[in-house]
Amino acid sequence: MNKLIFHQLFEKETSTYTYLIGDPLTKETIIIDSTIDTVERDFKLLQELSLNLKYILDTHVHADHITGATELKKRTGAKIAQSATSGVQCADVLLKDNDTLAFGTTTIKAIATPGHTNSCMSYYLKDSQPGMVFTGDTLLIRGTGRTDFQQGSSQLLFSSIRQKLFTLPDDTFVYPGHDYLGHTRSTILQEKKFNPRIKLENSESQFIQLMQSLKLDQPKRILESVPANLVCGDLAKIKGSL
Ligand code: FE2
Repeated sequence: MNKLIFHQLFEKETSTYTYLIGDPLTKETIIIDSTIDTVERDFKLLQELSLNLKYILDTHVHADHITGATELKKRTGAKIAQSATSGVQCADVLLKDNDTLAFGTTTIKAIATPGHTNSCMSYYLKDSQPGMVFTGDTLLIRGTGRTDFQQGSSQLLFSSIRQKLFTLPDDTFVYPGHDYLGHTRSTILQEKKFNPRIKLENSESQFIQLMQSLKLDQPKRILESVPANLVCGDLAKIKGSL
């Protein structure tokens, strides 16, 4: 296949990665985990590269930043796609496990990976060489998402990573939703070997214990982010309630 158009973009306040992936022939493009603070940057890039945004995807209902989905949809007419179990009613496409979305000659597959939240989706692009998986906050580089709010479950997170992500080809690139140390990508094999939380030598009970022992502060923006993300980042819909 032709080389994909691929940009990994970073928002530094919340250490969030946004991914823009375009089909080189048709210029149809998707964006994964946009933020409302970087819509201008991302829209400008789409225009500069003459890309036609087709789908706006989020990996989950984020608690630390507000999605740019509504603002990007207003500017481009792209469709918003979210997990069917997320409770996000403004989405144009509700995704179930194994659903695929096509952009140009490329397809991306939604893989249900609950645990960090009950409706987390990872997105798998197998057409590239090697494949790529966008893991949101399910699997981070040498870490995992937390499981202590938004219906989080350490048991579910363990089985999502072990049964769904670690069964992808070892050379698959892992692109997470955040990184706090400056890493950009990993591979499934590296995480099986080196992820201190969920490497293959750790048992499920070790993982659950470890997750229980984390004493994490609430994300700073949770009270504004979750309600805003449930309406696709359409701030006009929640004006007055924040
Ligand atoms: Fe999250």
